[in-house]
Amino acid sequence: VFSHVVQAPEDPILGVTVAYNKDPSPVKLNLGVGAYRTEEGKPLVLNVVRKAEQQLVNDRARVKEYLPIIGLAEFNKLSAKLIFGADSPAIQENRVTTVQCLSGTGSLRVGAEFLAKHYHQRTIYVPLPTWGNHPKVFTLAGLSVKTYRYYDPATRGLNFQGLLEDLGSAPAGAIVLLHACAHNPTGVDPTLQQWEQIRQLMRSKKLLPFFDSAYQGFASGSLDADAQSVRMFVADGGECLAAQSYAKNMGLYGERVGALSIVCKTADVAGKVESQLKLVIRPMYSNPPIHGASIVAAILRDRNLYSEWTIELKAMADRIISMRHQLCDALRARGTPGDWSHIIKQIGMFTFTGLNSKQVTFMTKEYHIYMTSDGRISMAGLSSKTVPHLADAIHAAVTR
Ligand code: LMR
Repeated sequence: VFSHVVQAPEDPILGVTVAYNKDPSPVKLNLGVGAYRTEEGKPLVLNVVRKAEQQLVNDRARVKEYLPIIGLAEFNKLSAKLIFGADSPAIQENRVTTVQCLSGTGSLRVGAEFLAKHYHQRTIYVPLPTWGNHPKVFTLAGLSVKTYRYYDPATRGLNFQGLLEDLGSAPAGAIVLLHACAHNPTGVDPTLQQWEQIRQLMRSKKLLPFFDSAYQGFASGSLDADAQSVRMFVADGGECLAAQSYAKNMGLYGERVGALSIVCKTADVAGKVESQLKLVIRPMYSNPPIHGASIVAAILRDRNLYSEWTIELKAMADRIISMRHQLCDALRARGTPGDWSHIIKQIGMFTFTGLNSKQVTFMTKEYHIYMTSDGRISMAGLSSKTVPHLADAIHAAVTR
């Protein structure tokens, strides 16, 4: 009965790792998936995560019961505080409902399913380009996906005029997906002034903001600075949604821990929204896993662990910034044609190199460097040792 099933293509991002794993070359380099690596090229478990896990293991009172449908209450509370700020009036007025979900993707999916059922507008605008999984998540949840101009290949920066025009002509009430910081894949973020203009435009057109916050702390190294865009929208008293992931900023990739928050106008509405979120979650996966959320709660609740976390997070962000400088210097030293200053200007885990898919294929074939075909490289996968190899490959790709 399944003989008609055709072979599906690999995922454009996770499939890069599949191809990388099959390559026997000793010099191979995986710059595909956005996952942090140390200078030695190894995955990193944060010290503070190890400490929190030790606490959990030592606590004999801990059991493995089901969590409630919306997850660990303390985790939800602390996650809302992390993104909206400890003194957020929306939290104090109980206008926010937060539910624990399966990392960023799961949070986006639950939010989108809720909107498809309960919101009057089914169209969501996503930036062009955006993370490859966004359109799939939203379409399968029942939303209709449109794009707004975001990236300008000519300047390798923001197409702010195009963004304002496209959002300005979106139908009233449309949902707009915004990357809270460290835009994936371009590494290009609006300035705070531009955010303010976006906010004014969106509020005047009654567009509903849906933030994807997958890199809080990774853009600037500061958790508060990286939440500024979200907090501006919450400060005006209007509604918004926010999907949070702890994959990158706590290195909890495989634990699948994240949260969806919906900011409402009143506490009464927030309570009803939460009751409907339960109806979305229960038939999908019943309730979320306990381990990752317990680690996050242990870190966020404890002043010492929290401050240790911020130091480790800053160290990861700084190492990535140093990779940006090293790569840019290496290309300049080789006299590689082109202006490579965008490598330093772009923010977060990724550089959107400007390399085309033919050049990417060449670099994979000849240099065993793995990256997504749109020319995005994960700077977090680079090290001082591998920068020269990457610079050689880019040089060869653009001069051939
Ligand atoms: C990425 O863009 O590389 C990450 O968000 C990982 C993923 O799931 O695609």
